[in-house]
Amino acid sequence: VKLHRPLVVANWKMNIPEGGLSDFVASCSSNSESRPGKDIEVWIAPPFPYLSPLRAEISAFGFDAEVGAQNCSDQKTGALTGEVSAEMVSDQGAVFVILGHSERRTLFGETDALIARKITAVGMAQLVPLVCVGEDLESRERGLTAQVVTRQLRECLGPARDRFGSLVIAYEPLWAIGTGRNASAAVVVEVNQVIRKVLRDFGEESSRVLYGGSVTPENAADLARAGGADGFLIGGASLDPSKFMGICAALSPHPASPVEKS
Ligand code: PGA
Repeated sequence: VKLHRPLVVANWKMNIPEGGLSDFVASCSSNSESRPGKDIEVWIAPPFPYLSPLRAEISAFGFDAEVGAQNCSDQKTGALTGEVSAEMVSDQGAVFVILGHSERRTLFGETDALIARKITAVGMAQLVPLVCVGEDLESRERGLTAQVVTRQLRECLGPARDRFGSLVIAYEPLWAIGTGRNASAAVVVEVNQVIRKVLRDFGEESSRVLYGGSVTPENAADLARAGGADGFLIGGASLDPSKFMGICAALSPHPASPVEKS
């Protein structure tokens, strides 16, 4: 039996914290009470140009965190104006890439097929794909959550199969992202089981499954206690160092769900 090490991921989207990178990292590091120890992993995804500067601030403060990108191209190089490859973000210190976030899917038209190719590109660059799935409100109300999430996972992972060494999944229901309305612990537990079942079919039992959508220091403890997630993907609250560290602290004393290692 292996205990998943809880993982907390900041998704800054197209924002940087008030006060800038240095203040953010300084404030996280000096928050000694809730500073995550070795038992909790912290990843931060800033916009592309801040990957390397953020990496430098983290090293300067001796803060224990990794950086990663919020997206990348499915191609290695080429005449693709405005695109950035997985190798390029790796060169800037990234160790992971968020893929298939609902904002990429809905605002930029990303399909499961494209996300599958991006997962392959990220895996080939030796980075960890953090793949987001989740249903919209209509699907939830029609009782189609399990179906939607299963289809997204199969279509994203299927074509990319065997191309990734390590994988993280985030369950992010669309109706919970940036709305202040988080999924209940019961929903998180239930959908986690759906995701785990698909991951088992792919031989990916050791992948971590996160929850994202309006996570705050206030609801993080409840969600963590229910054991439905191996950590969180955080948008809004991740721009505020005290909220971000508060969420880490809420997760620390609650080991994530044990899983059988096959
Ligand atoms: P939120 O965003 O925490 O602001 O709801 C989560 C996300 O989009 O990853």
